[in-house]
Amino acid sequence: MAPSTLFFISVLLLVPVIAQVQSNEEGFVSAVISQKGLDFAKDILIEKAIASLTPLNLPRIQKTMKIPFVGNIQLALSNITIYRVDVSTSTVKPGDTGVAIVASGATANLSMNWYYSYSTWLIPLVISDKGHASVEVEGMEVGLTLGLENQEGKLKLSLMECGCYVKDISITLDGGASWLYQGFVDAFEEQISSAVQNTITKKIKEGVVELDSLLNTLPKEIPVDEITTLNVTFVNDPLLSNSSIEIEIDGLFMAADEVVNPSYYHKNSKSPASCKDPPKMLEISLDEAVFNSASDAYFNADFMHWIVDKVPDQYLLNTAGWKYIVPQLYKKYPNDDMNLNISVSSPPMIRISPHNIDATIYSDMTIDVLDANETIPVACISVVVRTSVSLEIIGNNLAGNVGLNDFSLSLKWSKIGNFHMYLIQSVMWTLLKTVFLPYVNLRLKRGFPLPILRGFNLQDANILCTNSRIIVCSDVAFSVTREVWNCSCLSKPHLLPRTQPPYTPYTVSL
Ligand SMILES: *[C@@H]1O[C@H](CO)[C@@H](O)[C@H](O)[C@H]1NC(C)=O
Ligand SMILES: *[C@@H]1O[C@H](CO)[C@@H](O)[C@H](O)[C@H]1NC(C)=O
Ligand SMILES: *[C@@H]1O[C@H](CO)[C@@H](O)[C@H](O)[C@H]1NC(C)=O
Ligand SMILES: *[C@@H]1O[C@H](CO)[C@@H](O)[C@H](O)[C@H]1NC(C)=O
Ligand SMILES: *[C@@H]1O[C@H](CO)[C@@H](O)[C@H](O)[C@H]1NC(C)=O
Ligand SMILES: *[C@@H]1O[C@H](CO)[C@@H](O)[C@H](O)[C@H]1NC(C)=O
Ligand SMILES: *[C@@H]1O[C@H](CO)[C@@H](O)[C@H](O)[C@H]1NC(C)=O
Repeated sequence: MAPSTLFFISVLLLVPVIAQVQSNEEGFVSAVISQKGLDFAKDILIEKAIASLTPLNLPRIQKTMKIPFVGNIQLALSNITIYRVDVSTSTVKPGDTGVAIVASGATANLSMNWYYSYSTWLIPLVISDKGHASVEVEGMEVGLTLGLENQEGKLKLSLMECGCYVKDISITLDGGASWLYQGFVDAFEEQISSAVQNTITKKIKEGVVELDSLLNTLPKEIPVDEITTLNVTFVNDPLLSNSSIEIEIDGLFMAADEVVNPSYYHKNSKSPASCKDPPKMLEISLDEAVFNSASDAYFNADFMHWIVDKVPDQYLLNTAGWKYIVPQLYKKYPNDDMNLNISVSSPPMIRISPHNIDATIYSDMTIDVLDANETIPVACISVVVRTSVSLEIIGNNLAGNVGLNDFSLSLKWSKIGNFHMYLIQSVMWTLLKTVFLPYVNLRLKRGFPLPILRGFNLQDANILCTNSRIIVCSDVAFSVTREVWNCSCLSKPHLLPRTQPPYTPYTVSL
């Protein structure tokens, strides 16, 4: 049996956890769950609710009743079980005060045992009988309003209103006399109805409390790899419109052991673009700051330095390969192997515009000559690489691919005299294309997690770029069995080891 904790969780498709409500807090990732998304969540919710409601035992009912010509009878109903509930129509609607969910035209089937006993002056014996009855409850209406707020750093789910109303019930007795049947209906109709109403209401209350405590256990940060974590702390209250719910999370990357100065990033004003055509369940909007915080985090974690000692064309890592472009290098260190010590000198800046995402990477490349086991730095070239980034959704991750737009070179210092940058341009182009970009793309290809609860998968996602924001428009599929479905497990990417496996066919050592 699925615990009723599973109740209502799906109202929130995203990682919901928050911090202090402060008006100056900015969420850099926001998610709008559209009416289509809410309907999808509501359908799962009702399915889960029914699964956790049935079978449901109701308290025993007993009564003394007076039957004409028979006299006073002790009647009892026991083992009352709701074993089936069907919901024919349901709606979900966000409003000013909360999210209203209504299931109407619901039916429930109950089974129970009946028992009676009486004695009359006619016969000095106790007469009793027992049997089985089935009851069908029709036209049941169940309605509830869920409140959603950011409270003391947590997303708080509360049940604001809840009601269950039974319109009609019909009773079938197996066995028993006809007088019994009428007496039964008269005596118990109302009691069965109110037992059903009370029990279902109570069950919904319990479900919401359990769901709320599950939300409470959600993490504020999720690890992305060994270097960074993503701050999924909720900020601000959820925003309810008449057809959507918008929630905001901090959304910034942090180096695992570093505190980000939040005032460092500023949210750009929201652009009007959104997922309208075709309508999607979910619209996740990521500010430019999210990407720049990732860039900062990897930069600050010293991740952007590496020594290149193997390249596809190994000839380029020997002074002989540079014989004609920098003759003085070859003259001074004939036939010596070389290393390239590449160091990104400031966090790459990412700019998002409606037709383009570009990133500029400033780096220094030191040429080291390996002479008699000694590493001798001979020159340092400053390399500014301008790239454009394309994005795609892989699983629940946002993955990227960097393409080279252009680059510029300037000599920072040299122990082998001046040499013209245009001479080494084609060598640099080869190195960037065959070493640098594949290395960066190897990481970007794995992507970065979008904050989606485990068990939900993005489906038919497309990506829009607007001024300074990326918008992911997507439907969502639910793919996990009840047993593993709980919100303590987020979709977690595979951890990326600090030292990556070498990118074939050359090695890039850190
Ligand atoms: C109670 O009801 C359930 C479901 O109808 C049935 O399986 C079970 O045998 C009943 N128990 C008793 C003691 O009658
Ligand atoms: C529940 O009641 C309805 C209406 O009488 C009936 O059609 C249906 O077969 C019942 N379901 C079960 C499982 O007994
Ligand atoms: C929802 O609100 C908008 C204005 O915010 C209004 O134009 C629209 O008619 C409303 N829709 C419904 C179904 O109430
Ligand atoms: C995560 O984001 C929240 C809200 O912006 C902020 O208050 C909190 O300090 C951040 N956590 C860390 C570890 O920086
Ligand atoms: C690589 O160059 C940086 C300076 O750009 C220097 O600090 C670092 O020690 C060098 N690393 C190696 C292994 O030579
Ligand atoms: C270079 O190092 C290797 C082993 O690391 C050693 O066998 C060799 O003698 C060294 N050569 C010089 C010139 O120091
Ligand atoms: C949630 O699911 C995970 C993995 O399926 C499991 O290890 C964990 O115990 C579950 N937590 C709860 C509260 O059920």
